[in-house]
Amino acid sequence: MEDLIKRAAKDLAVAVNVAALTGAGISVESGIPPFRGKGGLWERLDPMEFAHINAFMRDPVKVWKALVREMKEIVDRAEPNDGHKGLAKLETRDKLKTIITQNIDGLHQAAGNTDVIEYHGTFAWQRCMDCGKKYETRKVDVSEIPPRCGCGGILRPDIVFFGEMIPAEAMWRSRQAASDCDLMLVVGTSAVVQPAAMIPIIAKENGAKIVEINPERTPLTVEVSDYLIMGGAGEVLNRIVAAMEKI
Ligand code: APR
Repeated sequence: MEDLIKRAAKDLAVAVNVAALTGAGISVESGIPPFRGKGGLWERLDPMEFAHINAFMRDPVKVWKALVREMKEIVDRAEPNDGHKGLAKLETRDKLKTIITQNIDGLHQAAGNTDVIEYHGTFAWQRCMDCGKKYETRKVDVSEIPPRCGCGGILRPDIVFFGEMIPAEAMWRSRQAASDCDLMLVVGTSAVVQPAAMIPIIAKENGAKIVEINPERTPLTVEVSDYLIMGGAGEVLNRIVAAMEKI
């Protein structure tokens, strides 16, 4: 791994416009379980029963109970880990310009990154399904399920459920960032969910170098990534930032 850490540090040192695509893996060390693989949320909950818009429309109480139990309490407690902090350091060194995250936990912003595209929305806000009014999640009283807007409408998290479109601005800003970058860090994603998994391919097609960080290989590893550093985001990004200081 040491050779790959040094290689990544060198590649980042010469890169001018770095972007990052992140997934649930970068938040695992903050106590938020991933979706897939061992201990993944979808091992316990059927995503089509709990994370699809039709399921929410059909039975908002059932989905809300699961969301509160499985998401709100965990996200409320979570703090940025060394992985998030490593990306924030790369921004302060004027290397990393934009993060495209599939995560809805707001931990990149909490770590200090300023340009974060929330590709799958955010759990930090709720919106009314009738009037569209938005509420900060931490101020929403979830003792009554489903929580309701002043207009009486049901509140839903401002996330992208399966079966829903990616917000247009997130879609084209991500495409722009991927086309413009000369190096993309792909951290903690299984790269099986579309259209997010296309983003490193757009970057590659536009000449960017793709550096993957994940304890496991993914569909990107063979076809798209220049190299994979097999390890946890916290340790690997810490070591890359430290190696950059020696260059
Ligand atoms: N550091 C880096 N990567 C890790 C770590 C870690 N400490 N721990 C696990 N991983 C890797 C796993 O090996 C896996 O490849 O993170 C990845 C997590 O994959 P998923 O759980 O599938 O998460 P993600 O790719 O973000 O899922 C995409 O699917 O369920 C939907 O909307 C949800 O945004 C999510 C999307």
